[in-house]
Amino acid sequence: MNIHTYEKFWLGASMVLIVGFILTITYGSVGLGIAMVDDSEPTINPENVGDHPDFGDPGVEQVGENEYVVHVVAVQFAYFPGEIEVPADSTVTFKLTSEDVIHSFSVVGTNANTMIIPGEIASVTVEADEPGEYGIVCSEYCGSGHHDMEGKLTVVP
Ligand code: CUA
Repeated sequence: MNIHTYEKFWLGASMVLIVGFILTITYGSVGLGIAMVDDSEPTINPENVGDHPDFGDPGVEQVGENEYVVHVVAVQFAYFPGEIEVPADSTVTFKLTSEDVIHSFSVVGTNANTMIIPGEIASVTVEADEPGEYGIVCSEYCGSGHHDMEGKLTVVP
């Protein structure tokens, strides 16, 4: 009779532990997921990027005397537009989104580097002072063509 009671106790205790572990894993990862998403960032439906007022026709847009906004759509395995041209001595803000998987956008030779997550609009600003050609690369593994995913930023004098 006593042994039976102990068995019941340990059976119950192990169930509590198992449920506890599951809750920890579930809520732990949910908590992490929420922490990674900045709620203040605008969102976008990755399946309707083409209908978006800014991303439907991505490219360079002048927003101030020396200020430009460039909308860029990332897909496996290219950026649209792939070649971006801005004048020297300008401030360029890239607005980025992905239609498929996680990519990144890194302007070689600058500290501009951001992840591009489907459903989110990432933003990164570059001071385009020096004329020249700057490579744009994807530094987030996104599939078989990842290493071919690149673009070009040309800062014209
Ligand atoms: Cu896109 Cu790697």
